[in-house]
Amino acid sequence: MFTERDGQLYCDGVPLARIAAEVGTPTYVYSLPALRESYRAYDRALAPVPHVVCYSVKANNTLAILRAFAREGSGFDIVSGGELFRVERGGGDPRRVVFAGLGKTRDEMAQALAAGILMFNVESVAELEALEQVAAAAGRRAPVALRVNPDVDPKTHPYISTGMQKSKFGIDIGVALEIYEHAARLPHLDVVGVDCHIGSQLTSLTPFTDALARVRMLIGRLRERGIGIHYLDMGGGLGITYSEERPPTPAEYGAALVAGTRDLDLTMIVEPGRSLVGNAGVLLTRVLYLKDGPVKRFVIVDAAMNDLIRPALYGAYQEIRPVMAPRPGKTETVDVVGPVCESADFLAQDRSLPPVEADDVLAVMSAGAYGFVMASNYNARPRAAAVLVDGERYDVIRERESVEDLIRGESLPASLG
Ligand code: LLP
Repeated sequence: MFTERDGQLYCDGVPLARIAAEVGTPTYVYSLPALRESYRAYDRALAPVPHVVCYSVKANNTLAILRAFAREGSGFDIVSGGELFRVERGGGDPRRVVFAGLGKTRDEMAQALAAGILMFNVESVAELEALEQVAAAAGRRAPVALRVNPDVDPKTHPYISTGMQKSKFGIDIGVALEIYEHAARLPHLDVVGVDCHIGSQLTSLTPFTDALARVRMLIGRLRERGIGIHYLDMGGGLGITYSEERPPTPAEYGAALVAGTRDLDLTMIVEPGRSLVGNAGVLLTRVLYLKDGPVKRFVIVDAAMNDLIRPALYGAYQEIRPVMAPRPGKTETVDVVGPVCESADFLAQDRSLPPVEADDVLAVMSAGAYGFVMASNYNARPRAAAVLVDGERYDVIRERESVEDLIRGESLPASLG
């Protein structure tokens, strides 16, 4: 948890200024108690029904974070063989893994089948056929759900809205029945579930309950046809507070899912990502320079869009707070920008901040989800370090990259001498 004590910003028992001084910047900082608490909130909310909370690895795949969730008994939602590798290295149980994604390769399917995952969430007929072949070659049966697209508008940013008819994701719910019947006839597939995921950063329950109502009808029809459905995977998507949003809590969300499914006699799966890690992490960055342009004041910091791309990519708002007690003086309207050679390289635009000076450390809040995982080495910038705080102590869970890391795997052809 991130709290203020005597004007200083702390992560649990550790002042963020201390981490910045000892580890340097930019650095991601995560709170282990916050991760645990967010997982437990989901687990408690779904307690009335059989359930598996499958942490969506894409939100933050740092090994220590996967380990923390594995210790809680979490399952995992993956979208690649790389994520499966990370889950296994993090100590996660592959039997509690669900595998989504519309472009799974045959190699990835074989890897997941060999690991014994809980379920493949299949997104097209072509993928179904490929999985049948992979399972036949391995002499196994693959457990499958179809990811259906219930065509509800999640009312979120278009780039993270996934459940509408125009979306590349999922199978239109209108044709799902037919495809289920086809899947049920394939000898190396076990049809076990229904899956949907309608979008991310949802701030109201209605799209979820609308999707659930449509999926319930489908489950009824499938059962009438003798197709047994044991798992209902409602995906992820619950939003968090970045600024003024007031999303439902995991308790409210869980209660709605329980109420809408408890008569169905199945195991409920959810795949939360952002709501488990988003507010459990911040990005620490140091002010390099102040610069006054003709119409704007820029606060130039050492973190950039390559470290945290959400503001540049979605125009996302991330709160920014000085880690020490604010300096006296009037707030100023500034752009907080990084060193990268792109005009989209900003962490905040026209933001009102207390006066800051060079060397001050700022915390970019709510950066635990879709932060480090979307980082790149653009402009040959080594990626940031990461730290996990537990009470009064912290550990570096990912070293800052070195310049040598930047050229790892590259070679010079002999013809170039
Ligand atoms: N399940 C599936 C199939 C997904 O595609 C996603 C996210 C999740 C679960 C987890 O959703 P969450 O609970 O985190 O909303 N980079 C964007 C978000 C992309 C979300 C992609 N899919 C951002 O920074 O806002």
